[in-house]
Amino acid sequence: IEVEEFDLVVFGASGDLAHRKLIPALYHRSQDGQVPEHARIICTSRRDYSDDEYRKWAEDALKEHVPDHDPKSLQTFLARLRYVKIDVGSGDGYDSLKAILDERPDVIRAFYLAVGPDLFGTICENLGKAGLVNGMTRVVIEKPIGKDGESARALNETVGKVFEEHQIFRIDHYLGKETVQNLMALRFANALFEPLWNAAHIDHVQITVAEALGVGGRAGYYDTAGALRDMVQNHILQLLCLVAMEPPESMDADSVRDEKLKVLKALAPITEQNNDRLTVRGRYTAGASAGGAVPGYLEELGHQDSTTETFVALKAEIANWRWAGVPFYLRTGKRLAKRVSEIVVQFRPIPHSIFSQEAGTITANRLIIRLQPDEGVQMQIMIKDPGPGGMRLRKVPLDMSFAEAFKVRNPDAYERLIMDVIRGNQTLFMRRDEVDAAWAWIDPILTAWNASRDTPRNYTAGTWGPSASIALVERDGRTWAEDE
Ligand code: BG6
Repeated sequence: IEVEEFDLVVFGASGDLAHRKLIPALYHRSQDGQVPEHARIICTSRRDYSDDEYRKWAEDALKEHVPDHDPKSLQTFLARLRYVKIDVGSGDGYDSLKAILDERPDVIRAFYLAVGPDLFGTICENLGKAGLVNGMTRVVIEKPIGKDGESARALNETVGKVFEEHQIFRIDHYLGKETVQNLMALRFANALFEPLWNAAHIDHVQITVAEALGVGGRAGYYDTAGALRDMVQNHILQLLCLVAMEPPESMDADSVRDEKLKVLKALAPITEQNNDRLTVRGRYTAGASAGGAVPGYLEELGHQDSTTETFVALKAEIANWRWAGVPFYLRTGKRLAKRVSEIVVQFRPIPHSIFSQEAGTITANRLIIRLQPDEGVQMQIMIKDPGPGGMRLRKVPLDMSFAEAFKVRNPDAYERLIMDVIRGNQTLFMRRDEVDAAWAWIDPILTAWNASRDTPRNYTAGTWGPSASIALVERDGRTWAEDE
């Protein structure tokens, strides 16, 4: 469905995010006919490009990231691109941008800030001063939103001086992933799960976001963040919220976000007192990944003076009626054994077996939501082994693979999210109080880590992280899903 006419202004348009994600996402939406005929994508950065030089840059990005593009659609898309040089530091260039935007004062106007967070404030202020913000305007900001609660508040405060909350779209690209949205469909479009979705029937939940890649060229940024800030504060807590929240009244943005907020507020604090039992930090050392030898984190960083974690495992608890006593084991890391993101909901065992010992072990049911790769949903159930040999039981997967079931291209998260910005739909974007609540849980963990003399534990690149993270769940008599 076509969206309304718009002008989208991308700051940081010659950067990595634009190259890998934004330009390809916009191309796909344009190719699928969702972008209206006169919509413009106005790209800005510090570089000296003419429109045509920027189009060439975008064409190269598309050739690299969308190898099966359609040449005709590519030309149509490139024709939508304009380029304006803006030096966000000195403030030069806003006049030229204004002249272009003033050509169409009545269309939706969105500013996408694909730049470092230290520039969000300045850009917003300058947009305000240049008279570029009106009732039809939206602004999109990327993570990281702050490095702790205090800096996040300051940042939100500055942006909030120019834009109202309903105009601010804080992107967490995990919320745009098909499989993440599917979590809501699974929970709230099926009557099957909801009655079982609580501490009486669920033993624990695991959320794993494992990456095979290292930090590569991003070591400079990454060393100031670490896995807890880079992945847990946002993506993983958002996943946890979608698994744990009460059914919202509707898909309306505030209904959904109100329920997520309650989950964040109910997270039991991790502090200096219990941090040793509930968290494990790791850092990869040289090893092998994807068939080749790879350097360790400190080698990539180029110095030894770092306590930044590239892996974290946590045992979180949600202190409310639905979830009391159900651990949520969370883990994420770079240079792990393979790229896999999944949510595992482990149900409790049956209360009593009517079968004899010869029937074999009865494994408790498990629901696995695979976010990537091989997107899909799997329910592990027990069945009788076929044949006349008596009652022998076996665990089998009821498997739904998106690729097989739908045979369509799996759109990138940014495609959905950018179109939601134009539509003004904030359901899949973080509200300011959610960001605050997420930091309120993360801050004490960072404080506890700083206070402790421990440093991250080493793990060899290409493994599942430090052994202490295995101990974290084994202490409770459980195992990580991959380890079975
Ligand atoms: C980003 C993090 O937000 O998400 C990166 O900053 C991480 O460090 C990336 O690699 C993972 O995203 P995806 O979509 O590849 O799982």
